Amino acid sequence: MQLASISKLENFVDQEVTLRGWLYNRRGKGKLLFLILRDGTGHVQCVCFRPDMDPELFARLEKLTYESSIQVTGVVKKDERSQGGFEIGVKDVKVVSEAEENYPIAIQEDTPNIDHLLDNRHLWIRSKIPHATLRIRNEVVQAIRDFFYEREFILVDSPIFTPNACEGTTNLFEVDYFDEKAYLTQSGQLYNEATCMAHGKTYCFGPTFRAEKSKTRRHLTEFWMVEPEMAYAGLDDVMDLCEDFLSYVVERCLTRARKWLDILGRDVTKLENVTKPFPRISYADACAKIIEKRAQLLASGSDDEKRIAKDAMTEPGDDFGAADETIIGMIFDKPTMVHRYPKSIKAFYMKADPQQPEYALCVDVIGPEGAGELIGGGEREDSLDNLLAAIKHHKLPEEAFKWYLDLRRYGSVPHAGFGLGVERTVGWICGNPHVRETIPFPRLLHRLSP
Ligand code: 4AD
Ligand code: MG
Repeated sequence: MQLASISKLENFVDQEVTLRGWLYNRRGKGKLLFLILRDGTGHVQCVCFRPDMDPELFARLEKLTYESSIQVTGVVKKDERSQGGFEIGVKDVKVVSEAEENYPIAIQEDTPNIDHLLDNRHLWIRSKIPHATLRIRNEVVQAIRDFFYEREFILVDSPIFTPNACEGTTNLFEVDYFDEKAYLTQSGQLYNEATCMAHGKTYCFGPTFRAEKSKTRRHLTEFWMVEPEMAYAGLDDVMDLCEDFLSYVVERCLTRARKWLDILGRDVTKLENVTKPFPRISYADACAKIIEKRAQLLASGSDDEKRIAKDAMTEPGDDFGAADETIIGMIFDKPTMVHRYPKSIKAFYMKADPQQPEYALCVDVIGPEGAGELIGGGEREDSLDNLLAAIKHHKLPEEAFKWYLDLRRYGSVPHAGFGLGVERTVGWICGNPHVRETIPFPRLLHRLSP
């Protein structure tokens, strides 16, 4: 018996192989029975010809339930018309386990009932669209690791239990840590600032948690973030890195995960356009553009565009909301780097721009096609006195930041970094605006299972 996987059929043309998988779909036509087999690596059509097969087996296969696990033995034939370019001329099928009737996930993936699909996420992940989406996620994660490895960033993971907040306490999940209060991390950044002073360039990559009660298509309560941090670096270095990084990740998906993008029906010309340089625009200029575009959409946009425009900003001052980000994504067809937000709306660790101290040396990278904010980052406050003042100003517990302040006492240098949300990035690359479909088992405001 020669075992093969569907993704490697090109190595077995005209040979007999055995494939192990599950029955994805089936249709019959006269003496022919077509079994669509999936084995995790892909799908292939297996053709059963009644006269060539054991009649009892043929009859059983004609009624075999979807998702029954089967082992198919047959000859690999090149077939340009079939998906993947091959089909199997079946000689024998072994039924490993017959699935129960009424498989909860219909084959049609345009099933509108998203709650039903999410309730059955453990089965839904077998379907073509979720399967391809998670393959893109796999490529994105591997590209992230390779990118930083190739550039000699050292992976130094940060803890998940933390004693204090990074971005403010309102968004934290509190846990009981042996009668002490602890929080699930919302960012590894503060620890990265320590590790980059030990290794020069570091990154952490893991799950992060936000208890914000957001019910949008861009928010999860548990999501994966990759966070690089560089010693002796400033805002411009961060923007250069963002550009190199995002174009690298997209390019990798285009070259190594093309077949999954095709299954998703992604318009790849949009991704092929994601090359350096990306637009760099100040917060002040971005606000002006948003306000101008807002007026234009309200005057002559579609109903959808008008709805977005209504929610957009009418004057500068606040952090961008979802509508503002969507409008930026309409104006530019590449990820856009918006820098120098008002210092007052950003986290305590942000360094002020010496030229205009009311603005911070920070950057958000906003994706096109409604992807929203993919990256947040910037240059960190490196002066002990300024940082102490910021901690006081934000009413944060000084004691908890003692170790963090030490980094400014012993060899402080300009340093900078960013955080990229994996799910928003995968959603953007897949052309799927919902982050809930880009992580295997999403954790949302009202969803903790399966
Ligand atoms: O902008 P954020 O909050 O930045 C930080 O946490 C910094 N400390 C990172 C750093 O400089 N090291 O989050 C970074 C990114 C966002 O741009 C977004 O892509 C993603 O994390 N993100 C979320 N993704 C899904 N669900 C949520 N609730 C998210 N919140 C942030
Ligand atoms: Mg942000």
